[in-house]
Amino acid sequence: MNKQLIIAIDGYSACGKSTIAKDVARILDYTFIDTGAMYRGVALYALNNQLIQGDVILTDQLADSLPEIQLDFKKNSETGKRHLFLNGTDVEEIIRRPEVAAVVSKIAAIKEVRHKLVASQREMGKNGGVVMDGRDIGSVVFPDADLKFFVTADPLIRAERRLREMQSKGIETSLESVLQNLQERDQTDRTREEGPLIQTPDAILIDTSHFTRESQLEHVLNIIREKFGD
Ligand code: DC
Repeated sequence: MNKQLIIAIDGYSACGKSTIAKDVARILDYTFIDTGAMYRGVALYALNNQLIQGDVILTDQLADSLPEIQLDFKKNSETGKRHLFLNGTDVEEIIRRPEVAAVVSKIAAIKEVRHKLVASQREMGKNGGVVMDGRDIGSVVFPDADLKFFVTADPLIRAERRLREMQSKGIETSLESVLQNLQERDQTDRTREEGPLIQTPDAILIDTSHFTRESQLEHVLNIIREKFGD
């Protein structure tokens, strides 16, 4: 396959999107872009700069601060993996913490934040050869993507997976609170005005509830081969 495709992978939190996107990018030798990490990066900036006070986000101040927020994916010299850097600091781990997860959907609902990140994601993907994972990639960022997937899974299975992932990173939490956070985020992501989570009619639905990592990758690669050849 010579063409450098744009592959959009959207769907709910913790349903295996990033795993599929990373695996597909590795096999095709494409760049994986985790757009959720970028929203988490802005949420971390807002937390670090006291732009979130209790339940209130100081939206105007955050919008004014956006030019000061520099987000880059760069190789971490120790792990060799691509990590998110916020204003020069590697924040890949801290953006996965519950404090960030608790506020990120609200941050992602802010119009000015979305405009900035969508523009930067379009720039990163414009030459193709990317697998981009998020909520609005096939609907807003790249509506003409070569291939679109919409990934879903049973909520309890998603919560169990996310809990295991957090526990493996030493983050203490419970199944109930992970499930509640996921359901709240689903609701905010689906109902926001700007770039809501939707399955576009041309996106291929994948339910990962009963797939293993290997079988879901094989399934997606088969679809890519059927459409674009080897
Ligand atoms: O994929 P994730 O859980 O890391 O995403 C974090 C949050 O960012 C989630 O609440 C949805 C939001 N998000 C978004 O609104 N648009 C994207 N393209 C990616 C993530």
